[in-house]
Amino acid sequence: MESIDLRGLDKCLLKSEALHQYILDSTIIPREHEQLKRLRKETKARIPKRQAFLLWGERALMNVPPEEGQLLSIILKVMNAKKTIELGVFTGYSLLATALALPKDAKITAIDISRACYEIGLPFIQAAGVEKKIDFIESDAVLALDKLIEEVKEDELYDFAFVDADKSDYWNYHERLIRLVRIGGLICYDNTLWLGTVAHPPDPQAPAFVNTVRDMVVRFNEKLAADSRIELSQVCIGDGLTICRRIA
Ligand SMILES: C[S@@+](CC[C@H](N)C(=O)[O-])C[C@H]1O[C@@H](n2cnc3c(N)ncnc32)[C@H](O)[C@@H]1O
Repeated sequence: MESIDLRGLDKCLLKSEALHQYILDSTIIPREHEQLKRLRKETKARIPKRQAFLLWGERALMNVPPEEGQLLSIILKVMNAKKTIELGVFTGYSLLATALALPKDAKITAIDISRACYEIGLPFIQAAGVEKKIDFIESDAVLALDKLIEEVKEDELYDFAFVDADKSDYWNYHERLIRLVRIGGLICYDNTLWLGTVAHPPDPQAPAFVNTVRDMVVRFNEKLAADSRIELSQVCIGDGLTICRRIA
């Protein structure tokens, strides 16, 4: 697949690149865990540009950005999460950020359709000493969630879920996660502002998949906003993060 340069669109939703850089330099990078830094660098080196299929200037698209990793970390600590699910692992940036934030006896069920990328990040997860917290499942996420629903006991529901897999399945994930995450627990969806495209009509100049995903994300956001089973907050960080709290 040919790489596509999307410099015209901006994954950073802050419209001043200088402000984004200030936030990274002053606060985020100095506090980024050494193994997260290494994982990020290794991902950039190992994933050929044409495989990463999108370039955002010098940033690779797929890993969550460090500022989002740090937000997830604070949320997990504040809520004292011990049992979490992640859909869409890739090389494991958000997974390692989660594993570092959780206590020793915590468990993360991490699901991705492909193990190959997870193995690129695994040495850094091991070096950080958090591998034991992770149960990696190589599977389509919907199939894996259906299996978890069959197995889970009512008093063993999950505290937290982070979703960053197939955008076309976000609503299917949501319907299943509502059954797996406890009342009061959080379900977080990544990329819910999709490069800022959600605010505009589809752009005929943009690559076709950008518009296809834009439409899916717009529909998903509408359905979430109308879902009385959750409270929600749309956070303008990275590519947009929607934090849902299950209330019914
Ligand atoms: C944007 S990346 C995840 C990035 C990751 N959260 C991080 O911080 O590095 C999306 C991942 O979703 C996975 N994926 C795509 N479709 C999937 C599916 N149907 N089931 C499970 N995983 C899927 C891809 O293999 C890819 O690794």
